[in-house]
Amino acid sequence: ILAAVLVALCSYLVGSINWSVIISNLFYHKDVRNFGSGNAGMTNMLRTFGKKAAAAVTVGDFSKSIITVAVSRVVFAHLFGQLPFDIGYLAGIFTILGHLFPIYFRFKGGKGVLTALGMMLVIDWRVFLIVLGVGLLILLCCKIVSLASICGAVLYPATYVMVHKLMGDFSLPDMICSIVIALLVIYMHRVNIKRLINGTEYKFGKPKNDKK
Ligand code: G3P
Repeated sequence: ILAAVLVALCSYLVGSINWSVIISNLFYHKDVRNFGSGNAGMTNMLRTFGKKAAAAVTVGDFSKSIITVAVSRVVFAHLFGQLPFDIGYLAGIFTILGHLFPIYFRFKGGKGVLTALGMMLVIDWRVFLIVLGVGLLILLCCKIVSLASICGAVLYPATYVMVHKLMGDFSLPDMICSIVIALLVIYMHRVNIKRLINGTEYKFGKPKNDKK
């Protein structure tokens, strides 16, 4: 139990390193949360500061969950051997929570899409590829990142069930974790959902300077 609490705490602290806030303040002397959608994420960095800033955030936010999930899995396997659940999910959920509510930045962070994708890649590359592939397809067709993100989140638990039923290693705790992650990401997109319904959602990459 103590080791699990430690994993959750360390993951939360690493997840709280929100690269959008850091890069926008450090290199542009502005806080991205005061621009565009007000979100501290890759999409808003792209629309506010351009491609380089967005690329840097992509690498940072994607890799932080890769690190926490991979490290906690290796350490747990070394210490305890085979567990009845995947500790990577605990690390992933707390890294995402850190990203959404960063302790270092007044608890105002991003929406967790890249961080969730990093976690998916380490836990199961097949689920990652399906969710990413469908998400990119939707983005290509509609040019709306939030729609692609929301669809990806909805698809994630369903893909988990499909892949792991096929592989014969389905686990109820793991499926519940995938639902928790999907619900977190969808909840963080609640303002986007309102804009999508109203037909006022931002298109991919288009600059907007109104803070919502
Ligand atoms: O990953 C966040 C994206 O889905 C939406 O971002 O800035 O358009 O609210 P944004």
